[in-house]
Amino acid sequence: MYAILGAVDFFRYLVRPEHWRELPPRWAEVFGRQAPLCVEVGFGNGEFLAEMAQTHADWNWVGFETSLTCIVKTGRKLHLNLVENVRLALLDGKFGLRELFPDASVAKVFVNFPCPWPKVRHANRRLVDEDFVQTLAAVLEEGGEFHLITDAFAYAEEAAQHVAASGLAVEGPNPLPGGPGTRYERKWRSRGLSIWQLVARASRPGKVERIAEGPMPHALIAKPFLPEKIKSLAGLKEVWPEGVFVIKEVFFAHTGQTALLRVFSQDRGFPQHFFLVISPYKGGLIVQLDGASVPFRTPAVKRAVAAVARALEVA
Ligand SMILES: C[S@@+](CC[C@H](N)C(=O)[O-])C[C@H]1O[C@@H](n2cnc3c(N)ncnc32)[C@H](O)[C@@H]1O
Repeated sequence: MYAILGAVDFFRYLVRPEHWRELPPRWAEVFGRQAPLCVEVGFGNGEFLAEMAQTHADWNWVGFETSLTCIVKTGRKLHLNLVENVRLALLDGKFGLRELFPDASVAKVFVNFPCPWPKVRHANRRLVDEDFVQTLAAVLEEGGEFHLITDAFAYAEEAAQHVAASGLAVEGPNPLPGGPGTRYERKWRSRGLSIWQLVARASRPGKVERIAEGPMPHALIAKPFLPEKIKSLAGLKEVWPEGVFVIKEVFFAHTGQTALLRVFSQDRGFPQHFFLVISPYKGGLIVQLDGASVPFRTPAVKRAVAAVARALEVA
């Protein structure tokens, strides 16, 4: 019973931008009002996000998390506190910040205690890297701010270098006596660790290339439904400098002539899993995205649809 209530509570805060026709979206329409936009990436249990959204009730808040548990916990917290000005996305914040916000549209971006990934071989998993700060420089409005808080001094120093290189004015890292009061702040302070803050301000517009846009890709093929040919699509793969897709498995419906292709794709390190459907259409075939697993319309997704269509054309 509690689990069901929890699901209902969090659901009203959840946004599914992969389903939106237009990217970046019109946030004023999503929130039902025009207000300054603030973003938190990796909000964890949502203490900071819920408190800031209440303290600054006249701002619109967007939170990104990759953990569904964190989304559910935070949604319940927002619901219990009757918060209305927050939307949550179960999405990599690096991708979300770049693809979901137009240039010069965000007032503040907060990152509290990002996973530090201290080992050199894990460096590409760090959130605040060159690509992230390039996005920051583009999406922050003039005078907009980026706030980073971490217990990892080396992380803060590296972030400061990236931020300075992107043209933002940077302050810090400086020791922070009192912080956002999140679970991770309590954890590190209880172990006697110092906490560091870095603040960066945007003074001139930056640029970033966005990759998720356009209509849902599909293809029409003037060929019959040939199960053996479709089965042979398993393993179809393309790799190029910015991405990859692989057709991992092919399934057939028991009734009728419909095939489901399980696909893995990656665009500049952003992974997606989705299904393509092949079914008879107007005397031929249609290849389209399955409605139950809609991905962002990235180059890798479009290439997967086009490559399947090409392979079926030569049947
Ligand atoms: C160390 S925890 C900190 C949580 C919270 N900010 C706090 O201070 O207690 C890092 C959080 O970032 C989330 N996370 C990691 N990488 C992320 C990404 N690329 N986009 C969004 N969230 C991410 C993790 O799921 C985790 O909840």
